[in-house]
Amino acid sequence: MNDQRKNILVAGNWKMNNSLDESVQLANDIAHFVHDNPEILLADEFALFPPYVHIAHVGEKVNNMPVMMGGQDCSFENNGAHTGDVSAQMLQELGCEMVILGHSERRQNHGETNEAVSKKLVSAHENGLTTIVCIGETLEQREAGDAFEVVLTQLEESVPDGTDASKVVVAYEPVWAIGTGKVASIDNVRDMHSMIAGCLKEKLDNGASIRILYGGSVKPDNAKGLLEINHVDGFLVGGASLNAQSFIEIAKVATKEE
Ligand code: PGA
Repeated sequence: MNDQRKNILVAGNWKMNNSLDESVQLANDIAHFVHDNPEILLADEFALFPPYVHIAHVGEKVNNMPVMMGGQDCSFENNGAHTGDVSAQMLQELGCEMVILGHSERRQNHGETNEAVSKKLVSAHENGLTTIVCIGETLEQREAGDAFEVVLTQLEESVPDGTDASKVVVAYEPVWAIGTGKVASIDNVRDMHSMIAGCLKEKLDNGASIRILYGGSVKPDNAKGLLEINHVDGFLVGGASLNAQSFIEIAKVATKEE
């Protein structure tokens, strides 16, 4: 059971999915449901991460609704000759309150390093965005017995010392659980989240207040069990966030005892 009640965050990472119409419809359905049914939704906060080019349109649906919006990545520069990049400032101007950094798909497909993530974090915070910093080991690393060390190094190097803890959320996402239907075991999640919580507490002022999300094949039927684990403060949901009903079902079971 959790020893510390934090606001539960359920975040939907849409990745490179949806037509524009589908994104707008999904945002509309989720925003209205959350707005109209606060009594049955047990999560405290909601955030949606559409593809960049859908953000402005999704913003029209979530504006003035109890649902935040964010980018799936950002540059560490505010502007300049960076073809294909999008800055934190640009996201903020579109109404984003958050940004995901260091997702394993960016680390794998774009060679994103911890150092790059830490520079992006600084820029995001300077522009008023809250960062969801993703960390997690590959199957190879886990099988080699290196999971804890890998995750700890990612955390140490991706979140600079002196970071404002109130602007950070950490997401533990074992790479082998993302999009595979394989969820980490309760023991895996408990051990990893507890190590991450200990590290954050040591590293930053108010580090103990940082929420730690779990991500990797979260579905309505496994969310409740995961959320009962100490130091699991919500979810970063991929596949199941592309359907309003399953995203909402996850938010319904997302509760902790006081
Ligand atoms: P998944 O993705 O829920 O589809 O496993 C999670 C993520 O990549 O954030």
